[in-house]
Amino acid sequence: MPKLMERVSYQFIQEDDDFTRKEYYETCGFHLEIGVNPLSDLGFGTTVWEAALALCQYFEKEKIRFWNKKVIELGAGTGLLSILTALLGGDVTITDKPELLKQIERNVSFNLSPSFKHHVKIRALSWGCDHILFPSDYDYILGSDILCFPENIPLILDTLLHLSNENTIIYFGSNMSYGRPLISNGYVILSQYFETELVCRYKASDVNIYRMTRKTPTAGGLLQW
Ligand SMILES: C[S@@+](CC[C@H](N)C(=O)[O-])C[C@H]1O[C@@H](n2cnc3c(N)ncnc32)[C@H](O)[C@@H]1O
Repeated sequence: MPKLMERVSYQFIQEDDDFTRKEYYETCGFHLEIGVNPLSDLGFGTTVWEAALALCQYFEKEKIRFWNKKVIELGAGTGLLSILTALLGGDVTITDKPELLKQIERNVSFNLSPSFKHHVKIRALSWGCDHILFPSDYDYILGSDILCFPENIPLILDTLLHLSNENTIIYFGSNMSYGRPLISNGYVILSQYFETELVCRYKASDVNIYRMTRKTPTAGGLLQW
């Protein structure tokens, strides 16, 4: 049974406006240093969630690489998954709500040398609002543990429909234990518009990885949700 990767170590830090702890991860041959702040009032994005670890581990297992691919991550939180994706060759747009961008910038600077930074953009993208400011030609869209709340599902659906085209591959990871019926229902809704395949499951942690691609519109147009 595949087990989820764990952080290698951590270190408490003091007198830092953004972070209370640095966590260290080994994945795909890279050593990653991620600042987190579980006590922050900035919401859920200030720690690393298990689905982000699961997607990193899945990319390692499947030897997925992103050379010259245009990638966007939704609700990136600390930025761990996007940072790995950039190291794996992607041109990555890292997005979250505006208040999360400073911690993402700092985590990017901990891990990517200045010569690498032109492969990364950090932008505010609130689902269902700002997505129209972004293009629709991404090769990959990533999301980890972002389907937890039912009110976000139509916003995420609108965002995915705008950002994707028939060639886009979407990888989403979800810890199902955060609300199995609601999260499963989210994937049922997305599966009306996207071919949705469960490609990996980390059973001990109850984390699923899904791969999605756009369904071809039927003669009658897209299904309604
Ligand atoms: C559970 S956290 C997951 C963070 C990160 N993806 C991970 O797995 O470590 C959910 C993330 O979605 C972001 N988020 C929540 N609602 C959002 C919205 N309406 N638009 C954009 N991002 C949102 C939060 O700021 C947070 O970073």
